[in-house]
Amino acid sequence: MFSIPHLDLPALTAAGGTVRLPGSKSISNRVLLLAGLSEGTTDVHDLLDSDDTAVMLRALEQLGCGLQQRRHDGQEVLEVRGVGGQLRTAQAALLLGNAGTAMRPLTAALAVLTTLQGGEFELSGVPRMHERPIGDLVDALRQLGCQVDELGQPGYPPLRLRGVAGGALNLAAPVRVRGNVSSQFLTALLLALPLAARSQAVVIEVEGELISKPYIDITLALLQRFGVKVQREGWQRFTIPAGSAYQSPARIHVEGDASSASYFVALGAIAAVDQPIRIEGVGASSIQGDIRFVEAAQAMGADVQAGPNWLSVRRGAWPLRAVELNCNHIPDAAMTLAVMALYAKGTTRLSNIGSWRVKETDRIAAMATELRKVGAQVAEGPDWIAVTPPPPQAWQLASVHTYDDHRMAMCLSLAAFNPLAGAQPAVGVRIEDPRCVGKTFPDYFEALFGLSRARLQDIPVITIDGPSSSGKGTLAARVAAALGWQHLDSGVLYRAVGLAAKARSLLPDDAAQPLNETAQAQVAGEAAALDIRFEGDRVWIDGQDQSEAVRHEAAGALASRVSAVPAVRAALHQRQLDFRALPGLVADGRDMGTVVFPDAALKVFLTADAATRAERRYKQLISNGISANIESLQLDLEARDLRDRSRTMAPLKPAEDAVMFDNSGTSIEESVQQVLQWWAHRRA
Ligand code: DC
Repeated sequence: MFSIPHLDLPALTAAGGTVRLPGSKSISNRVLLLAGLSEGTTDVHDLLDSDDTAVMLRALEQLGCGLQQRRHDGQEVLEVRGVGGQLRTAQAALLLGNAGTAMRPLTAALAVLTTLQGGEFELSGVPRMHERPIGDLVDALRQLGCQVDELGQPGYPPLRLRGVAGGALNLAAPVRVRGNVSSQFLTALLLALPLAARSQAVVIEVEGELISKPYIDITLALLQRFGVKVQREGWQRFTIPAGSAYQSPARIHVEGDASSASYFVALGAIAAVDQPIRIEGVGASSIQGDIRFVEAAQAMGADVQAGPNWLSVRRGAWPLRAVELNCNHIPDAAMTLAVMALYAKGTTRLSNIGSWRVKETDRIAAMATELRKVGAQVAEGPDWIAVTPPPPQAWQLASVHTYDDHRMAMCLSLAAFNPLAGAQPAVGVRIEDPRCVGKTFPDYFEALFGLSRARLQDIPVITIDGPSSSGKGTLAARVAAALGWQHLDSGVLYRAVGLAAKARSLLPDDAAQPLNETAQAQVAGEAAALDIRFEGDRVWIDGQDQSEAVRHEAAGALASRVSAVPAVRAALHQRQLDFRALPGLVADGRDMGTVVFPDAALKVFLTADAATRAERRYKQLISNGISANIESLQLDLEARDLRDRSRTMAPLKPAEDAVMFDNSGTSIEESVQQVLQWWAHRRA
């Protein structure tokens, strides 16, 4: 997940490949609550791991549910031991972030339980949660006789629920709830009231039109899995039969998130020209209403094949077709249509989307503002939005604000495919606060980059070259992390070749003796065949973790010898180029800016005086439990510098256009900031 202030997407040109969706947020949080309230233990498979589910898990733990993570057949399984409809704790303050799927049902369930069994609970969230209405649910709970106090604004969280043991609910008359602000109020009552239906039936009636009906279908389907069969008359009247009680199904599987699928369906429709996008985790047999996004995408031109739990999408009509669509049935996924509209011919108008205004942010206003930033013409009304794409010359390099709304970030990322709309010039897209995707899809950008292609020259490279122990490895790793980019420590490749050559006895014992032709060819062969894999800061060579060995002084000395062999450098050249991958690369070494990435957007040549470098190396070795002598380290460094500088093959020298940076007196933190500042400047 990218925990950085902003993520720059280069202009993207094509997409293809397979994505496995994370679990559905709506299903995950309903399943967790149901399992938590049930009698018995439930094994939950493929649960979404996200901000909103974390909030629900924390709340369940506070309420006395037993939670245990274990692995089964190589997969994570969460074991939830339910409370069997009994409050195990009389008091708690639950912090629910910005998770509507936790706030609404927990409010209803705890209101019902405290009224019957006694207790006092406070439910609050982040400031935006306190702007999201809950008044209709509070009204319904009050009709039942529940005591609900609004601790802030009337009609909004935070709330306090109170009751004394032995209380009763007014169930004689149907509970009435309005259905036109959020279907989550009805879902909340449907999830809570089986707790009160042991001895009598409970009837819920919806006032006015019910929006987002498909989410009610999910609720009803899951209630059934947990032993409660609700009778539905139209969308107006729901009866929970007498004798209902939650019973764990023992094992339940969470299907992939159909709303999350929408970004990849759109990606296929826009950019899958040679190879389809295969989406695993949802398909034709999905219980999620947002699966019907597929029909809307097809209407715009997507070519979609579907199996029970997979979809395969290619570009069909191009440019996409503009549509006019009532989106009541796909409220969340409809946002993705607003972005597909950037690639359509004409104006796309989405109506009946009033619920957008009370979601994570006012999504109609947010979508209009951000689509205008990339150059689109946008009109909006109380419950509709109309989007006309930018003409090719009008696409703008935009910094997209995301309003702490995961869907804004995921939607607007698709604007990076503007080269396919003929944008002149093609532009990148900056996504502010990319971490907000953690609400439902923590690895969204990794998945997007894994499927997307860009022109090589649009994938930016920063090179950091310099002598041994100048601190370039640490600096490059930190700059890469700050930008969310790939990192290539090219020294490790040479070190690995040095170790391999030594292990095969290909090097003369006398380090000063140059390699003869046969030895050179053999070492180059090792370089070409090198089986090396990077995993974070771990290095695997021939399937073995060699992270320590490779960073040892001895490996550095071997590297210095083999790196002077032209055939070795040639063998490693393409391998280094392959590290240039989305969204960008920071490469450190000796010749990154001069030979390997001569077109790098920013080249830094890092130096520090030999005494400073010897001291840094000394501290590093000592802290790794390796004994060292500072004077001999300095002599070694000076000797190696001389060898690296004076060799004929790729001698250590700064690129002509490199920024010289002596960091002898600069802390690592300051050095990182300095490079980021240069980069921001270059980019501007
Ligand atoms: O940076 P380092 O200490 O990991 O480098 C080890 C050796 O590898 C060093 O002596 C020079 C060589 N090297 C090189 O020639 N070209 C690179 N791009 C990186 C390292």
